[in-house]
Amino acid sequence: MKMISDDRLSSIYQSVKTFYDEDHTGHGWDHIVRVERLALKIAGIENEGNESLIRLLVYLHDAGDAKLHNDQQAADEFLMNIIRKAGFNESETQLLLSESGAIGFSKAKTPETVEGRIVQDADRLDAIGAVGIARAFTYGAVKRNAFYSEHQPEDTVIQHFYDKLLTLRDRMNTKTAIKIAHERHRFMEQFIGQFIKEWNGKK
Ligand code: ADP
Ligand code: NI
Repeated sequence: MKMISDDRLSSIYQSVKTFYDEDHTGHGWDHIVRVERLALKIAGIENEGNESLIRLLVYLHDAGDAKLHNDQQAADEFLMNIIRKAGFNESETQLLLSESGAIGFSKAKTPETVEGRIVQDADRLDAIGAVGIARAFTYGAVKRNAFYSEHQPEDTVIQHFYDKLLTLRDRMNTKTAIKIAHERHRFMEQFIGQFIKEWNGKK
């Protein structure tokens, strides 16, 4: 993709800002800002990736998530419209759609561009560590899920650590993200250990 102009970047920024501002399940604007910061930091350390494309993919990566729309078709249309409105041509649009679509965890895909892989790392890192813990409990509160249960672990926040969060460390693309993930992973293990001891009155 050739140079991404500031006008195009700011068009996409404007379109998604309002959209993410309305979310309360962990895809709010604060998530986007953290992922942007972390992705640019990873790119700086790895000395790879085009900064504008990284920022574009950060802005777009959750905008086409069906969970945040009525259905998948509405999600695809929203994403397509904001990309077209920013003035990207057909082949650029296709690249942005497939790269931003590959980033989300549920797709289990690896983006083709280094920029996409860096954003995927930053997105996954934001689900773990101290911030990841805060996001998981926020999600649990919105869905009215229990913290924990020895008898019915399904749909508890602690179960989500085992189902997803503790698996993310081993799914990073870049060396820099692998290093950060190790630290965040240890912190979550320590948190869960302490949590379960407290739950059982042992600490
Ligand atoms: P993303 O693909 O952007 O990481 P998800 O939709 O999978 O987004 O999750 C958004 C946030 O909500 C993440 O921090 C995730 O850990 C949390 N989350 C998702 N499902 C659950 C769940 N069942 N219990 C607790 N937290 C959850
Ligand atoms: Ni995300």
